[in-house]
Amino acid sequence: MTADSSDTVARAWRAEAVRRIEADYNRSADTHLIRLDLPRYPQIKLYLKDESSHPTGSLKHRLARSLFLYALCNAWIGPDTCVIEASSGSTAVSEAYFARMLGLRFIAVVPATTAAPKLDAIRFHGGEIHTVDDPRTVYDVAHRLARETGGHYLDQFTYAERATDWRGNNNIAESIFAQMSAEEYPVPAWVVCGAGTGGTSATIGRYIAYQRHTTRLCVADPVHSIFHRHFADRNAIALPEGCASCIEGIGRPRVEPSFIPSVIDRMIAVEDAQSIGAMRALSRRLGRKVGGSTGTNLVACAKLIEEMSTRGEQGSIVTILCDGGERYGCTYYDDSWLSERGVDWQTHESAIDRFVSG
Ligand SMILES: Cc1ncc(COP(=O)(O)O)c(C=O)c1O
Repeated sequence: MTADSSDTVARAWRAEAVRRIEADYNRSADTHLIRLDLPRYPQIKLYLKDESSHPTGSLKHRLARSLFLYALCNAWIGPDTCVIEASSGSTAVSEAYFARMLGLRFIAVVPATTAAPKLDAIRFHGGEIHTVDDPRTVYDVAHRLARETGGHYLDQFTYAERATDWRGNNNIAESIFAQMSAEEYPVPAWVVCGAGTGGTSATIGRYIAYQRHTTRLCVADPVHSIFHRHFADRNAIALPEGCASCIEGIGRPRVEPSFIPSVIDRMIAVEDAQSIGAMRALSRRLGRKVGGSTGTNLVACAKLIEEMSTRGEQGSIVTILCDGGERYGCTYYDDSWLSERGVDWQTHESAIDRFVSG
């Protein structure tokens, strides 16, 4: 094949790959914005952006789409590229879905502790699993696998913040503000989210600034995460060894390149037991199970709402329902799993029960 004709073939493959992703997007509906009335706080409205309703079950569906489009348009991926990712699970589930759509081999490098249902979901979408015992090695192992297979490491931790179109293009922030437009308080006082890569907080923070909204951005972070320490002191860049949160998907041991602290107004550190208690209380209130990071977000919302109420303020707060609870049946929803890890969630569950149910 001549250089010209192989270029034509590569372009045709890329055009078809982009078309497939765009066609999938065209067939998809936006995720719901659920309003949660809080009987104890009639002047404050809480909304949950339900990202569990994406085809692959989490907010990472948006990220996976953006990372594939970014890699395709940079000509980093071709028809024979093996695609690799380092992930705590959710991103890999979504990426496996897009890899299969394009007919590409996909390998997820995940910590050995990743919940089994997430691994099943990666396999269900055709992905392969490579587990590592030390979660801090996922990046190096992903690089090595990319070298060995001649493949491409998508690297969500580096590219999340730049692969997402932060000014619009139906990113999560644009969708939230559009869905809020007919509410009593259409411009939220706060948007609250977590940080895994930092991509969601970067997108929301930049969008708020670009739209010149008065909304402030709060990131809820597990106590055992470096992000909130780095937010308070930019010299803090890594956690001491052995210090880790059990909330999957958020809170990292190292400051990820996609984490942009300057767009964040406030960070709230949340104990794992609080996150689990809130997750369970919210699940009861909604009548369906949510994941642990949604509980983390809700704890931060409860604090902000209490503060607003004390100051006599009215308004709205939007947070993210990141994923559903089905993936955590044998962990966060298993009492003995929690007790073995010394997680005392019950008092926090009662407190959040009172918060959401009055
Ligand atoms: C369940 C869950 N919640 C929240 C997040 C945070 O999202 P981001 O990576 O955009 O910071 C993640 C990311 O890994 C996640 O998996």
